[in-house]
Amino acid sequence: MSDVADRGLRDRTAELAVVRQQAVEDLDKRAAARQHRLGKLTARERLARLLDPGSFTELGMLRRHRVTDFGMAGRRPWTDGVVTGWGTVDGREVFVHAHDFGIFGGSLGEAHAAKIHEVMDLAESAGAPLIGLNDGAGARIQEGAAALAGYGGIFRRNVRASGVIPQISVMLGPCAGGAAYSPALTDFVLMVRGTASMYVTGPDVIKAVTGEDIDVEGLGGADVHARSGQAAFVHDDEDDAFDTLRALLSYLPSNNREFPPPGPADDPVDRSCEALLDLVPASPNRPYDVRRVVEEVVDHGEFLELQALWAANVVIGLARIGGHSVGLVANQPMVLAGVLDIEAARKAARFIRFCDSFNIPLVTLVDVPGFLPGVGQERGGIIRDGAKLLYAYCEATVPRIQVLMRKAYGGAYIVMDSRSIGADLSFAWPGNEVAVMGAEAAANVIHRRRIRDADDPVGTRRALVEEYRQALMHPYHGAELGLVDDVIDPRDTRSALHAGLEMLRSKRALLPERKHGNPPL
Ligand code: HXC
Repeated sequence: MSDVADRGLRDRTAELAVVRQQAVEDLDKRAAARQHRLGKLTARERLARLLDPGSFTELGMLRRHRVTDFGMAGRRPWTDGVVTGWGTVDGREVFVHAHDFGIFGGSLGEAHAAKIHEVMDLAESAGAPLIGLNDGAGARIQEGAAALAGYGGIFRRNVRASGVIPQISVMLGPCAGGAAYSPALTDFVLMVRGTASMYVTGPDVIKAVTGEDIDVEGLGGADVHARSGQAAFVHDDEDDAFDTLRALLSYLPSNNREFPPPGPADDPVDRSCEALLDLVPASPNRPYDVRRVVEEVVDHGEFLELQALWAANVVIGLARIGGHSVGLVANQPMVLAGVLDIEAARKAARFIRFCDSFNIPLVTLVDVPGFLPGVGQERGGIIRDGAKLLYAYCEATVPRIQVLMRKAYGGAYIVMDSRSIGADLSFAWPGNEVAVMGAEAAANVIHRRRIRDADDPVGTRRALVEEYRQALMHPYHGAELGLVDDVIDPRDTRSALHAGLEMLRSKRALLPERKHGNPPL
């Protein structure tokens, strides 16, 4: 770039083309061989697969770091190791940042961070989702505190944008330290098996401090985080992750001031759900897969389940009814009999808060025996975590509909979006039992002495259990009290939900003015 004054705009435009080519093609070529060998794509290849063709506009392509120590003065690649910009997914605007592992391992220095800060600010201003394609080694060691401060700026922006725009993190390589913490602050994390990992402290440091031997995959690979709850989805390859990301976006609004975009409304809303009569066994203790119930009720049986391998005793996910997005929360009788425990409560609570932030109505399918009793649960904080779930529902102002399918005992009945904590509508199936506890346990407690002193304790007990069942263990008890709006034919569940959701479409609910609440954490 010499003799600047002597050259005309034609020459300088030609020079620009060379610089841009260096920034794009040369860098990509260098990175590509290594990435492909590891079964990974380069940052730009990833963006090309994720975004609509030709829709990407890059920002800060010519940004470089200013560091001179550690031989860095001679290594100043364009982009500084992250590709940022905006484009569209299925025609809807999104903002993206994608680590380039080929440049300093995708590590984050001052310039790299500044590019991410800019794209985060733009995403928030434009009111469009932010997607991070993560494949980076955390804070750039050569840049010291500047790198740490760069992460601070990202974390602060993640929190500021929380509940304003959807934030989604796709983990595509080893992500250490800050490269793991920022995704933890976003709404959803997707991970690819075999290549992605997330951890705060890597294997070498762990070995030095605790003596534990572990590899990256065993420490923070996709299957580890599918079970820790950190990952909402795990995938076998990058294309599968991008397909799920596109599906996920289709259920979400672009920001908290919008409603989710309508999907096709070509599954009749008055479709009778015949299969429900056989899917749910009458006996309250017999297991079944509640996901089959969800699939029967929602449009075309399409249900995007989140965190399927973590706390599987509660099922959460997104679907549509009559073309409109809904968030589903359902007890899963197939796992731990569907009890609520610490992890299930935390899992459901965060999902409810997400749906509430982004105007996604909540449908809660209830079949719950109660909270899990146990010393471990009590000492582990079930009071606090159960309260999180309660807090999340009580605070939610989106349309909320409860369906009482079979049993709902004790505190778990209240917590699973009962009318008393603010559900707008509650429907019960004819076999539903709402009670402080099951009939057997109830009769044992309130008639203990009578049963003990009876000539025929077994027969007496049976009669008293039946008496309790007749008096309270049916949906008409709740209906009499106004806790159930209607007892419905299970086959009409889809049409009842659709009618309720339509009625509530313009629901308004204002919370008292305050800085923010203080949920149990
Ligand atoms: C600068 C780094 C780097 C880093 C790797 N590189 N990590 N450069 N800063 N943090 C460089 C390497 O020198 C190498 O450069 C290239 O990236 C590829 O690295 P390799 O080690 O060869 O790759 P691989 O074997 O695949 O291992 C990847 C890795 C490992 C697992 C990520 O590099 C690693 O453990 N790095 C350190 C991770 C770390 O501790 N980060 C700090 C986290 S603390 P060349 O030039 O040879 O290609 C943090 C603070 C914020 O983030 C915390 C907030 C809570």
